[in-house]
Amino acid sequence: MRVYQPLGQSSMCTELSAKEQETISRWKGGSLAAERLLRPKPVALGSVVVDPPLFQAPLLEYTNHFFRLLVRHFGGVGLTCTELVHARGLIECYERTGQLPEQLWGVDIEPGPLAIQLWESDLQWLKRGVAFVASQLRPSVIDLNFGCPSHRVAGHSGGGAALLKTPERIGELVAAAVESAGSIPVTVKIRLGWDPSTPVAARVAQVVEQAGAAGLCVHGRYATQRMGGKADWNAIAAVRPHLCRIPLIGNGDIATPQAAYRAFVHYSVDGVMIGRAALSKPWIFRDIAAYLAGKPIPAPPTLDQKREILLGYIDRLEESLAPRRALVLAQKYACRLVHEQVAATRVRLAISQARSLAELRRVVAQAFER
Ligand SMILES: Cc1cc2nc3c(=O)[nH]c(=O)nc-3n(C[C@H](O)[C@H](O)[C@H](O)COP(=O)(O)O)c2cc1C
Repeated sequence: MRVYQPLGQSSMCTELSAKEQETISRWKGGSLAAERLLRPKPVALGSVVVDPPLFQAPLLEYTNHFFRLLVRHFGGVGLTCTELVHARGLIECYERTGQLPEQLWGVDIEPGPLAIQLWESDLQWLKRGVAFVASQLRPSVIDLNFGCPSHRVAGHSGGGAALLKTPERIGELVAAAVESAGSIPVTVKIRLGWDPSTPVAARVAQVVEQAGAAGLCVHGRYATQRMGGKADWNAIAAVRPHLCRIPLIGNGDIATPQAAYRAFVHYSVDGVMIGRAALSKPWIFRDIAAYLAGKPIPAPPTLDQKREILLGYIDRLEESLAPRRALVLAQKYACRLVHEQVAATRVRLAISQARSLAELRRVVAQAFER
């Protein structure tokens, strides 16, 4: 098994825009409030401290145990998160097989803080799922998904983003989850609403805070947008006045340290959540943390190091999953990691055409040759 080695710490400075330089010189004038923004305060989710306040977004079929270990290896992340898990599916799987579903592998042995994300529209199943997770798996945080627009979740099951059509129902579900979770904080992840004709994030914010949630993450898109268009950060910021006590985490399209910085400074969120950018750059949290602390951004891994990261990831999938499943997940992730490679389109095609893990390893080795 390959072990992830610490990477070299050579430095690379990045340019600030004129406006950012101006903001920093104002801060150097002594405003304490602004100082706090440059080095954002740790976020408290109930008793769990997230420091730095940088959150790894849940991504179905990507943010498994091995990916989360990779993110932890590079550092800078405050809270990692599983992909979404159906509460009823989890209970039924465990009762039938005595095993956890694949999405929850590794949660009991990996470093935290870690959130387990559940989705469910049925109150009783949600209570059972939350109670099981809280008593058997003891994550740092249980996150509830009210943002997934997929047909499987929001279709006839009426879960995920479909619940944004009925904010009061979200309140009932959150209150039930909080009760079942005991001492484990429950957080909530939403979108701005189902569609642009019904913006409900402000209302949902009030409802979930009253129901006892410990934090709220807002992805700045509507469910009907899926991943199209741009995240609306003004709409995320507009939620802030509707929360009295709990932190607001902003999410959507953050792909650079500078963008994360702007989210804290211009949209006054308490934390920032990063999803897709962490797939092609699992070191992005380290880079953002350095930038926010006023330190140089470390150099990205070399081609050799990227190849080792990917081959190590493939090894770990192979050790844990059936070959066919390991191949599918490895291909998906490999396509993301080569995102910024020269000839990425050609390499992605070769990756998706690999018929075995051995063939995939050969493609990866070639793709990262100097
Ligand atoms: C492939 C994929 C899978 C996702 N899976 C989940 C999920 O399991 N749970 C969830 O709350 N959001 C999920 N999302 C949404 C992300 O968590 C995040 O809100 C979205 O990608 C926007 O953030 P980003 O621009 O930093 O990627 C998924 C998004 C993508 C692209």
